[in-house]
Amino acid sequence: MKLVAGNANKTLANDISKYLKIPLTDCLLKRFSDGEIYVEIHENVRGEDVFVIQPTSYPANDNLMELLIIIDALRRSSARRITAVMPYFGYARQDRKSAPRTPISAKLVSNLITTSGVNRVLTLDLHAGQIQGFFDIPTDNLSAAPVMVRDISEHYDKDKVTIVSPDAGGVVRARNVAGRIGAPLAIVDKRRPRAGISEVMNIIGEVEGQSCILIDDIVDSGGTLVNAAKALHEAGAKEVSAYITHGVLSKGSTERIGASKLKELVVTDSIRETEAVRKTKNIRIMSIAHLIGEAIGRTSTEQSVSSLFD
Ligand code: R5P
Repeated sequence: MKLVAGNANKTLANDISKYLKIPLTDCLLKRFSDGEIYVEIHENVRGEDVFVIQPTSYPANDNLMELLIIIDALRRSSARRITAVMPYFGYARQDRKSAPRTPISAKLVSNLITTSGVNRVLTLDLHAGQIQGFFDIPTDNLSAAPVMVRDISEHYDKDKVTIVSPDAGGVVRARNVAGRIGAPLAIVDKRRPRAGISEVMNIIGEVEGQSCILIDDIVDSGGTLVNAAKALHEAGAKEVSAYITHGVLSKGSTERIGASKLKELVVTDSIRETEAVRKTKNIRIMSIAHLIGEAIGRTSTEQSVSSLFD
């Protein structure tokens, strides 16, 4: 078995490598002066089961292209099986035609990854479960829920917690966490008048006096979260925190979250943390390296991956 890391999240790749006690494969990843990517694998991979760790996070296009080129290099080096390990799958939010004459980019990107010669995909909390079907190759969609539940149990009094979905689309995800800790569920009725802008319409469920914990797959601008936190406070919540799998946290989000009523935002390290994230006092990173590492190990030894979530 071999582990190859792209440039997108070297820290996570190193942590996975430590968990599995397998060193990262020596390879050269460089840019030519015109921006083209060049890859050289410096170890023999003939007949190997290779896992390429590369979330397609910001800069999404560069990281995606790097992933495709690494896979091509491995395929041409006679690797036996190649798994794209994408803890964050960029373009996932473009999973349907949102208006006439628009693309379904999530499907296009899935096709590109499959065509590059990968045999399997390992990912985490896809924006919509159905995206799994965009890949015509075996795809494992891991869930950060068990890691979140463990962390919530360590930091909160479970009897006073209400789990909240920040929109209708996230109800299944939030209900899963609520079920695991035996907490009630509330739902924020969110409206998105246009991309990047969100408005809270109503709150469904009892939140008064409760420690509300918002569960979501992505925090990007932070608008959804900050608006939901404000609305929950107005509805009488004692405090509001959030557990979100992917901290996209684009420009301006950390200031917005830092100045908000959120007690704490916990994100996983599926995306490399920036300096701005590190400096924001109410953002904490929770590692999923052991979860991904365990899933890689089980895939390699042909053991069940789903039983990780029982
Ligand atoms: C939307 O359906 C997603 O689950 C997230 O709620 C959304 O991507 C968060 O975006 P933002 O932080 O920009 O409001």
